[in-house]
Amino acid sequence: MNKVIITEHPLIQHKLTLMRMKDTGSKDFRELLTEITMLMGYEVTKDLPLTDIEIDTPVGKTNSKILAGKKLAIVPILRAGIGMVDGFVSLIPAAKVGHIGLYRDPETCKPVEYYCKLPQDIGEREVFLVDPMLATGGSATAAIELLREKGAKNIRLINLVAAPEGIEEVHSKYPDVDIYVASVDEKLDDHKYIVPGLGDAGDRLFGTK
Ligand code: URA
Repeated sequence: MNKVIITEHPLIQHKLTLMRMKDTGSKDFRELLTEITMLMGYEVTKDLPLTDIEIDTPVGKTNSKILAGKKLAIVPILRAGIGMVDGFVSLIPAAKVGHIGLYRDPETCKPVEYYCKLPQDIGEREVFLVDPMLATGGSATAAIELLREKGAKNIRLINLVAAPEGIEEVHSKYPDVDIYVASVDEKLDDHKYIVPGLGDAGDRLFGTK
């Protein structure tokens, strides 16, 4: 059964409140999302394996820990997921970045794939699938399906805000995918927007309203 890990750090919650405010402009919205992604990165990377190496400090020799070199891939769901890439890449510069393009059909509210480019060795990588909003779960499950088809085995889903309906959808289809979120909101409205949410994350990031 998948775990839902809610990152409740005060800095994350404070910054998320600023992002939710309707008068917060694109520049601040973008910066806040990057900052929150970095803070969430602390939780998401908590179990990465370490190994010991011998080093020389200016004072003497010691055995010290470094990341064991587990290969990672950051995969944003376009377009809003792009807003979570910089935060992760600045923490894990060696990670490769794939992209999955899905848009939500305005009539059916179902995801339609229009782009997919992933690292060739995706099957050997731990995948961080990122999208600020987990609403119906349609895009997330479509992206997970695509990743699985391309050979990805270990996938974590990282969202900023989730609706209970989206968590349930991922939960029922992919019980082995853990979900990291900063907030689980109340519900979806009739247009499948998260309530209270923060509106359309892509429009707010890119100023396209
Ligand atoms: N996508 C968004 O950007 N916002 C929502 O509330 C739901 C889906």
